[in-house]
Amino acid sequence: MTVSSAPGKVYLFGEHAVVYGEPAVPCAVERRATVSVEPREDDHIRVEARDLSLDGFTVEYAGSTGDHPDVNVPTPLVEAAIGYIDAAVEQALDAAGESDVGFDITVESDIPLGAGLGSSAAVVVAGIDAATRALGVELDAEEIADRAYRAEYAVQDGQASRADTFCSTMGGAVRVEGDDCRTLDTPNLPFVVGFDGGAGDTGALVAGVRDLRERYGFAADTVDTIGDIVREGEELLSEADPESDPDESLLVELGNLMNFNHGLLEALGVSSRSLDNMVWAARTAGAHGAKLTGAGGGGCIVALDPTPETQTGLRFTPGCEDVFRAELATEGVRAEA
Ligand code: PMV
Repeated sequence: MTVSSAPGKVYLFGEHAVVYGEPAVPCAVERRATVSVEPREDDHIRVEARDLSLDGFTVEYAGSTGDHPDVNVPTPLVEAAIGYIDAAVEQALDAAGESDVGFDITVESDIPLGAGLGSSAAVVVAGIDAATRALGVELDAEEIADRAYRAEYAVQDGQASRADTFCSTMGGAVRVEGDDCRTLDTPNLPFVVGFDGGAGDTGALVAGVRDLRERYGFAADTVDTIGDIVREGEELLSEADPESDPDESLLVELGNLMNFNHGLLEALGVSSRSLDNMVWAARTAGAHGAKLTGAGGGGCIVALDPTPETQTGLRFTPGCEDVFRAELATEGVRAEA
């Protein structure tokens, strides 16, 4: 049995705009997906998943082609999860030069699904690492990130950036602009995450932004302005000492940029009432800034606050189902066994 884990992420800045070639800065956080893989004698894929903010499920089907008509998938979220696992298996088989190896796969994740924390990327990254190692192949991090991107790209019909998969593979804070992906040295930012218990439909939200951009020049300008916010944020981060706790003035300035970024995402139609409620509750409680993270539509917000105040404020906010501090995950994908 080979076991790998990979972290989820929050977007400090830049989701959606990154789809149009603007830079984005996602940061890996200590919520991980762990994938255990055991090759089988036949070509069947058996997937058992726990904790994916679902009730858990087990499915088994023949072949690794993504075609599993006999499987009675209980919900669209489970179907989506199986799609990502299939795509990861396909990439692993391709990397190992194999075609008809089956696997028993167990996914355990404490990253809510479809909630803007990069659950699918973490599962794909950990899955590719575990499955290739199970077949006796060691991929370097760059190749894992690239294959994980291709897996997401295939599942999301070409609507994917490299941000989530690169961040989950490398860990820490990263900067992604088109195909240019780099790691950043940043201080450990005091992230607080609020989760409304829901999920957004990434494909539909990305399509909504595309329609707005095509219809209105000012929507295209809005996307470009998000890119300007990211560049400003990067500048601030590059001046900070990565070895010490961030000082108050940095948090205030980053928070202002997060607030601005959220306003523009709201204008692009990807926020929701519960996300806006949590954003405002976090700010009222004393967060330096707060914004939705990921595709939006429902799911998570991220706020900056080194004190416990924002967590307390969010805990009493109607519609906020879970609150937690999200430490920067300095390690990306790693072998667990
Ligand atoms: O919600 P998530 O974690 O899947 O993030 C989506 C981020 C987008 O920028 C909206 C899409 C992408 O592929 O970058």
